Amino acid sequence: MIVVTDPIELKKIVLEWKLSNQSIGFCPTMGTLHAGHMDLVKTSKSQVSKTIVSIFINPTQFNDPKDFEAYPKNTETDLKLCEENGVDLVFLPSVEVMYPKSTTPIQMSIPSLQSTLCGRTRPGHFEGVLQVVSKLFHLTDPNIAFFGLKDYQQFRVVSALVTELNFPIQIVGVPTKREADGLAMSSRNVRLSPKDRETASLIPRMFQLAKKTLHGGEKNILIWKEILTDFLLTGSNVKIDYLEIVDPITLQPLSQLSGELLLATAVFVGDVRLIDNEILVSP
Ligand code: PAF
Repeated sequence: MIVVTDPIELKKIVLEWKLSNQSIGFCPTMGTLHAGHMDLVKTSKSQVSKTIVSIFINPTQFNDPKDFEAYPKNTETDLKLCEENGVDLVFLPSVEVMYPKSTTPIQMSIPSLQSTLCGRTRPGHFEGVLQVVSKLFHLTDPNIAFFGLKDYQQFRVVSALVTELNFPIQIVGVPTKREADGLAMSSRNVRLSPKDRETASLIPRMFQLAKKTLHGGEKNILIWKEILTDFLLTGSNVKIDYLEIVDPITLQPLSQLSGELLLATAVFVGDVRLIDNEILVSP
């Protein structure tokens, strides 16, 4: 496995691979890798000849500097996991390399997809994601890029980015990997205290309740939302950032329960912010 910190070195290797007709899969990450990330790698390896993983905690997508400071870092373990899982190249740039002092700030946004969910409660977050993902796409020049569907809004925003700006890249969404109790795997889970980890299982159980009540005939979207909100709030140390029911394509709020819908939530358990979502069909 090759580990590269320098973008010029990375571009050289990518060019060599391209010239020898190798297809490239790209899995962007912020490290503290887990089995969910390795599912991105496995999917990539099944579809292309070379797999690149980037590990970069991107400061421009954190609206809260404290959240950036607290974001876990485990480079040594990450590299070991990548090696064990057959990653061909890890790109491990520094902040200075990605954003040199001489940088002229650039801002991108896709307003219609950013007005709800995380875009509403984390102002500036998707501007940062669009900026770093565009840079990483130019540097890694992949044929296919793999994104976890736990960050469903990010998947939609990046899909729109490649369509609107004609990036010749296919975006593939990989299903959320879950712990035994259903909690979505996340690099942030390592920050939960044992008690808060137990409380966090309310999130997957809320999705079970959502399915049960939806199929039990609940038709009123406001009542449904109230039932689910009340359930989450039974946990001590829980604060709901949002619980929204939106169209899975436009991400705009729905006013009634019919057809396909995206139920998405962000919940603080203690000071750890966890997100999850599911696409459900109202009968
Ligand atoms: O999903 C993430 O880990 C990040 O948002 C990404 C795509 C690596 C960009 O920094």
